[in-house]
Order: sequence, then C-alpha cells, then structure tokens
Amino acid sequence: MAIDDTYELNFQKLIDHSLNAIIVLRNKEIIYANDSALELVGIDNHFDILHVDFHTFLHPDYHDLCKERLRRVREELEIAQLSEQKLIKADGTEIDIEIMAVPYQHKEEALAQVTIRDISKRKQAEKKLYHAEKLSAIGEISTGVAHEIKNPLTAVKGFVQLLKTEHYHPYLDIVSKELDNAIATLTNLLQVAKPDLENEPSVSIHLTTELEALLSLFQDQFYRVKVETRFYHEEQSIIGKKNLLLKAFFNLVKNAFEAIEGDGQLLVEHFYKENAVYVKISDTGVGISQDKIKNLGTPFFSTKAEGTGMGLTQVYNTIHNHNGTIEVLSEVGKGTTFAIQLPCGN
Ligand SMILES: Nc1ncnc2c1ncn2[C@@H]1O[C@H](COP(=O)(O)OP(=O)(O)O)[C@@H](O)[C@H]1O
Ligand SMILES: [Mg+2]
Repeated sequence: MAIDDTYELNFQKLIDHSLNAIIVLRNKEIIYANDSALELVGIDNHFDILHVDFHTFLHPDYHDLCKERLRRVREELEIAQLSEQKLIKADGTEIDIEIMAVPYQHKEEALAQVTIRDISKRKQAEKKLYHAEKLSAIGEISTGVAHEIKNPLTAVKGFVQLLKTEHYHPYLDIVSKELDNAIATLTNLLQVAKPDLENEPSVSIHLTTELEALLSLFQDQFYRVKVETRFYHEEQSIIGKKNLLLKAFFNLVKNAFEAIEGDGQLLVEHFYKENAVYVKISDTGVGISQDKIKNLGTPFFSTKAEGTGMGLTQVYNTIHNHNGTIEVLSEVGKGTTFAIQLPCGN
C-alpha cells in the first residue's frame, strides 16, 4: 500500500464507490455490499441484500466450490484467487463473473472480502470471435478441399465426354450427369465460402429500399405468411458490397419462409444505433435447437431434405467480411430471430 499521510482518505467512501462489486461475508451471509455490488445483482435497496445468503446470487454449480474457497479464506487465511463463475441476478438472469476473496479480520471475527467483476460482455465477445474463427477455419479447409477435388473431377468429365464419342454406353450419360452435379456443388461452395471480394466495388446502400424489394420476391408466399416491416432511420445508409449483402439477406429471408410450415409471421426490422445499422429478421417457424445453433454457418449443415447448407455460410462470410456481427435467438416450436449488425463506417 502507498499512502501520502498528509491526506486523510476516507476508505469507506473509496470502497463504497469502487467500480468493482465488493461484499463482505460472515460465513455465507452478506454483511456489507457496495453500490457496484447492488447494481451487479440488480437490487435497489441496501436492506434487500443485507443478511442474505450469498448463495442466493451464486449459480448452484458453484456452491460447493464457493463453500470450500471461503472456508480456506476464513480458516487458513488464504487468498481465493480469481475464478470464473456465474451469478444469478435478482430478476433471474445469469451473468458471467470473475470472483476473488481475501481474508478480512474484524475484531475477533474472520470474515471474507469478496470482489466481483461482471465479465459477461467479454465472454460474449470471446464466444463470437471463437465462432467467427471456427467458421473461417472450416471455410478455408473446405474451399481448399473443394479446389483439390474439382480439378480432377473436371478432368474426369472431359475423359468421359471423349469416351462417349468412342464407345457409347448409356451409363456414361449418368456418369456425366452425376459429375456435373458434384462439380456444381463444389463451384457453389467456392463461390459462397470465398466470394470474389476484389471484384465488387463498395457502394452506398439504403438497406430498407433493398429489403423492401427483396421481400417482394416472395410474394407467392404472402397468402400464408404475414410479412411486417418496422423500418426506422430509413435515411441511414451503409457502405458495402451490394450483391453480396443482398444475397445474404435473401438467404436469411428464404430460410425464414422455409422455417414456417403453414401459416405464420415474418417481421423485418431496421434501425440505427451507435454508428451501426441493425437488421432483425424474425419468423414464427420451427426454430433451431441450442445444440444446432453452433453449427450454423458450417458449409453443408442442413436439416432440410433438399437443403444445401450453403445459405448461412454465405451469410456469415459476408457479414464478417463487412465487420458486422450476427446473433441468433431461437426457441424450438416458437421461432427464430437473426440479428445482424453492420457498422456504418462514417
Ligand atoms: N430461420 C430459421 N429457422 C429455423 N432453422 C433455420 C433458420 N435458418 C436456418 N436454419 C437452419 O440452418 C440450416 C442451414 O441453413 P442454410 O445454410 O440456409 O442451408 P439450407 O437452407 O440449404 O438448409 C437449415 O437447414 C435449418 O436447419
Ligand atoms: Mg437456406
């Protein structure tokens, strides 16, 4: 500790207003909580947190660990080092936290001073980055493989063509057709996972105008799907590769229509916030289970009989290439929302 003793600092005040959440525990009972701690758990009044069992706010997965760490703090005067755990706020929402505890001797009593930091934003960013990195790795591998396979297949196709002119056999037509299909799939993958970014200029785009036009392409579905648009800040434009972005939004809208069996609703929202444009596409379709959400964007991942699993690969690639982000919220049987954020860059 360093202190200039000409200053009589009020330490209570320093702690009360610390940015870190600080609480003092007697066993598991909260006997002090600063303003940040109240804010962290989402409680307005000091009286609602005092004398409450700390485990009320700690995720049950960490109760045993917390008990043991606190025992060592109290009995062995050890420091419980930073550990990543989960907290449950007063309204029931779960957040990621970083927590540590140090022994705090008060008169004869061994208490624990606990410091907590909210790391949910950092965790979310890490998760997004991980997903983006995983997808780009998968994209690179699959496009590499696609190249390697496409070239020999094209050669084989040429030879089949020659063979047909020399010794015709009806099977050769089938061979040709199957080769065409395989080559088309690979070409599609290469286009989608590694679009020719250099060739398309970046232009100014009014997304709402484009989205309106894009939705009208699905007119034949309007008898069963009610389409609603909520467009705010229509004057806002973004800079980007128009064809790629429109293809991405087309893929998202197409998936939304396909997810709705029978009647349903599609909502497309557009608004501007903090130098970014947000587009949300929500459907009342079949939804996606949590374990499948992490596979979205992987080439060939499809749950449809006739699906290619290429649509979202194009979407993720395009949005990441524009430094945007995608968030997926879904509930099986209820519907799905794809929330796209694109920076305006000005
Ligand atoms: N709006 C949505 N609602 C439910 N599932 C979806 C939605 N969008 C995408 N999916 C799921 O993601 C998978 C991959 O989508 P995509 O890459 O477009 O390929 P495809 O549409 O050819 O199956 C779909 O097969 C589907 O399971
Ligand atoms: Mg699709």
